[in-house]
Amino acid sequence: MKKIVFATNNKHKLNEIRNILIGDYEVFGLQDIGFGNDIPETGSTLKENASIKSKTIFDLYNINCFSDDTGLIIESLGGDPGVYSARYAGCGATYEENVDKVLFKLKGQNNRKAAFSTVISLLFDNIEYFFEGKISGTIANKRYGDGGFGYDPIFIPEGYDITFAEMPIEIKNKISHRAIATQKLVAFLNKHVSNSDIK
Ligand code: IMP
Repeated sequence: MKKIVFATNNKHKLNEIRNILIGDYEVFGLQDIGFGNDIPETGSTLKENASIKSKTIFDLYNINCFSDDTGLIIESLGGDPGVYSARYAGCGATYEENVDKVLFKLKGQNNRKAAFSTVISLLFDNIEYFFEGKISGTIANKRYGDGGFGYDPIFIPEGYDITFAEMPIEIKNKISHRAIATQKLVAFLNKHVSNSDIK
């Protein structure tokens, strides 16, 4: 079985990909390879940040590796919080504080169009590939539901009248930005078996 690293410490994301990437690959997280540092997300786009993370690991360990970066893009806020989604209300901000800031900024705003976007960077046999997943929707006037995480209580995906936080997690995990990007990555990996491996 070939080995690949997912440059994340998020156990939920790791398990999710392990469950769908059945066959040729064994997926390792950053902890599994003994990388304990934080990789600074200094890019100005999701693509750049995803790239920084996978390149850092590829350069250090010379192994096939992928990473992801996600943002909530709100039309009437000029694309904010976008690449700053995790720290919209400041460094170390909680999900609560970030959601509060979005609701405050959109007070009285009729255009509530938004989208979640996930970009995955894959470094595979020394070549970089990108996979994107996007889902459009609108921002609710207040929080609804208590499932999910992050901006889920205020994001209503197109074609639904409930937020991500109100829907069963199995549905969210089928239609979400991350699910779409991950499916593209998995399709690629299931088609291409790497020449290299972890030594
Ligand atoms: P990350 O790149 O996956 O770490 O995501 C950055 C930030 O986007 C997170 O801290 C969350 O605030 C938000 N986010 C990412 N994915 C989701 C999601 O599926 N639902 C709601 N918020 C999300």
